[in-house]
Amino acid sequence: MRSLFQRKQIADLIHDTEASGGLKRALGTGDLVMLSIGAVIGAGIFSTLGTAAAGETLPTGEVVRYGAGPALVLSFLLLGAVCALAALCYAELASMIPQAGSAYAYSYATLGELIAWIIGWDLILEYAVGNVAVAIAWAGYFNSLISPWVHIPDWLTHGYYNVHASSDPAIRALIDTAPRVLGIPVLVNLPAFLIVMAITWLLVIGVKESTRVNNVMVVVKLLVLAVFIGVGAMHINPANYTPFAPNGFTGIHQAAAIVFFAYIGFDAISTAAEETKDPQRTMPRGILIGLAVCTIIYVIVGAVATGLIPYQQLKSSDPLAHAFNVAGLTQFSWLISLGAVVSMAAVLLVFQYGQPRIFYAMARDGLLPPWAAKLHPKYRTPHVTTLATGVLVALGSLVADDAATYDLTNIGTLSAFMLVCLGVPVLRLKDPDRPRPFKVPFVWPVSLAGAGACLFVMQGLPLHAWIRFGIWLAIGLALYFAYGYRHSVLRRGAPPVSLDGTTPPGSSA
Ligand code: ALA
Repeated sequence: MRSLFQRKQIADLIHDTEASGGLKRALGTGDLVMLSIGAVIGAGIFSTLGTAAAGETLPTGEVVRYGAGPALVLSFLLLGAVCALAALCYAELASMIPQAGSAYAYSYATLGELIAWIIGWDLILEYAVGNVAVAIAWAGYFNSLISPWVHIPDWLTHGYYNVHASSDPAIRALIDTAPRVLGIPVLVNLPAFLIVMAITWLLVIGVKESTRVNNVMVVVKLLVLAVFIGVGAMHINPANYTPFAPNGFTGIHQAAAIVFFAYIGFDAISTAAEETKDPQRTMPRGILIGLAVCTIIYVIVGAVATGLIPYQQLKSSDPLAHAFNVAGLTQFSWLISLGAVVSMAAVLLVFQYGQPRIFYAMARDGLLPPWAAKLHPKYRTPHVTTLATGVLVALGSLVADDAATYDLTNIGTLSAFMLVCLGVPVLRLKDPDRPRPFKVPFVWPVSLAGAGACLFVMQGLPLHAWIRFGIWLAIGLALYFAYGYRHSVLRRGAPPVSLDGTTPPGSSA
């Protein structure tokens, strides 16, 4: 029992990083803020905003979640505060443990191996399952972008589960009208599948998210949102702000639980700690500034979107472009769709790049098989995990329902954040003398409030999300006891697995 909670020494974590080759330290605060905006602004603001404002109702008439209406701006502010608490905790750990692997690595040092595994398993929800949702949102905007010239048949743009969950009679009719194979209706989201496969191919051949390309994409995002805000603000109808909170605090809370997706990613930059100059100072600044910038942008975009058209009409797969269309600003909606497509491609790239690195960190610790840390002989990329991640995400995108996918991603990410918040005070108690270049101020109230706030946002998610999350955790635990428990480098006292999947020469492993 005790060994389940065995902790990795921080000095070992840093040593493993160096022993396995380490990565070049080239990123400064400005780069981190740009990376953060690159990872954060995407499907959350371009897509979940619609469901968060308008709510969601099943074809049977059952309400899955209440919308916030124009009070969506309060949901964004609430989330900004919740994420700031978690971000402070991330910043303390990232500055102490500047290693790839993010929350997974921190929890290994603070809460022990079993919790670290659970967090690593939750991060798959954040990165891989999250990307399924982003790919579906990307496809929604892509379809509206090309619609003046090309119409892809509906059965090729709506996944099976998406059609079944839809309350739109025209979409549900596809169950009867789609072509059938062996009696099963063929309902697939082909553009979502293809974008994930294209990005996977780029990553396998070694096109990584270079800072310069990212900066260009961030500028495109910010320009497009500036156009949305600037043009939209001139066409606001104040009557749309009444009623302001049609479903009271329940609506604000449940909207926050889905639009939390828009905040995911500020933590992803902590996976770049190994590549950051002076990470002790730079990492906390980068995380907090990035979060503040995104929160301000979201509040303004939320205010403009709900002022432009009645909030009920925002329920759409491309709510920002749709809002412009409904408001008669069709000449700009094309630009919004173009910006959304670029923004979400950037998010896909960041997360599709990050997931194999987390797998790599876990494989280095022996919790996953050594092949997960192998590099391609020619391209020097973790091609096996990159391909495996790509194929799974692409297949998920082909059939999944976006709303269910957002929920699962959010609950997994929030639970990882909660554990990170709890890890900070635990480490203060267990290792009080270790230098902490960045310290969470008022650590007990801040970290406990952070953990409590994450749990509170999770409670705004529908029951089905909790059930699916429970099943996900059960599968993860079964895998841990079947493999990781027996192969853990820490438990066996073996040296870490090196970058090419072998153990260093002269080791006793
Ligand atoms: N926050 C990222 C997005 O909204 C995941 O796409």
